[in-house]
Amino acid sequence: MKVAVVGATGMVGEVMLKVLAERNFPLTELIPVASERSVGKTISYKGQDYKVVGLADAVAMKPDVALFSAGGDTSLEWAPKFAEAGTTVVDNSSAWRMDATKKLIVPEINANELTKDDKIIANPNCSTIQLVMALAPLHKRYTMKRVVVSTYQSVSGTGVKAVKQLENEIAGIEGEMAYPYPIGRNALPHCDVFLDNGYTKEEMKLAKEPQKILNDTSFSVSATAVRIPTAGGHSESVNVEFENDFDLADVRKLLSETPGVVVQDNTDTNTYPMPIYAHDKDDVFVGRIRRDETQKNTLNMWIVADNLRKGAATNTIQIAEYLIANKLI
Ligand SMILES: NC(=O)c1ccc[n+]([C@@H]2O[C@H](COP(=O)([O-])OP(=O)(O)OC[C@H]3O[C@@H](n4cnc5c(N)ncnc54)[C@H](OP(=O)(O)O)[C@@H]3O)[C@@H](O)[C@H]2O)c1
Repeated sequence: MKVAVVGATGMVGEVMLKVLAERNFPLTELIPVASERSVGKTISYKGQDYKVVGLADAVAMKPDVALFSAGGDTSLEWAPKFAEAGTTVVDNSSAWRMDATKKLIVPEINANELTKDDKIIANPNCSTIQLVMALAPLHKRYTMKRVVVSTYQSVSGTGVKAVKQLENEIAGIEGEMAYPYPIGRNALPHCDVFLDNGYTKEEMKLAKEPQKILNDTSFSVSATAVRIPTAGGHSESVNVEFENDFDLADVRKLLSETPGVVVQDNTDTNTYPMPIYAHDKDDVFVGRIRRDETQKNTLNMWIVADNLRKGAATNTIQIAEYLIANKLI
């Protein structure tokens, strides 16, 4: 299995290499790919050094799988070229997510949609993945009508440049800005770009991607996405109105029995999910599970996950593992 990691020098790419090694992904040849700026640099994988190559060279090497995390423009231009060369692409950018001809996959929920013909497969947005991991089992049982989500997203979700901005601010160094304002001691109600409807692109990803993943447009999602100065791990305050009533003990049981979801919910012991505990873990953590006392059949909860792992690298690699296990590549 020849595996190209496109964006290998980035935040997600680095974690991708770590997760591939940890999970003992069955690769026989690794092809690290990045921009022309990084060609010739060395990256290390399982104690071995590999030279970073450019995109054209990587296509010519005809990898079996290419795991993309190099931004939307790179994916739009290069994913089809890899696909034409026979490579199956799993893409982390937003380029293909809402394309009706491409599947948007969270393996625990809808990997069974995948076929041999899927040559470009989209990985959902990081904040969508952790949201749907908790919503999917609840929707199946109680039928969602409306979800209101507010996010508290870490700077690592923006990439290397944003992490550097926060580090510089903490160290009192003037440097390049990833955001239009300081992020330390601040909260920016501004993730990704603003759209004509007044929402940000991140908020519209949260509104649209869950419907596609759950293959159901009968519920709606309204989102506010906020960037906060945490280094890693996204948090979400989620309010869900269901068609049917629920029992809180059943909700906790259902979530705790869901693969990939961990319930951390005990107010007596101050137990609830936090980014520092989600760091470097593949699970999605859910807590503060309580009834919304102002509206019937409505639940409040708090969801946290490591955006670079389940929100990006781990989900991508799980998709590739599913393809291999089911002989789809
Ligand atoms: N961070 C997250 O939590 C997260 C979660 C889900 C999805 N994503 C998506 O994953 C992608 C990467 O995010 P990131 O946070 O890892 O960003 P990042 O830290 O800025 O890394 C970007 C990577 O892409 C490479 N790259 C940039 N332009 C390129 C080009 N023209 N040709 C080839 N390679 C190019 C960079 O190579 P150089 O080092 O050579 O510049 C680097 O390896 C984005 O599409 C993002 O939306 C990120």
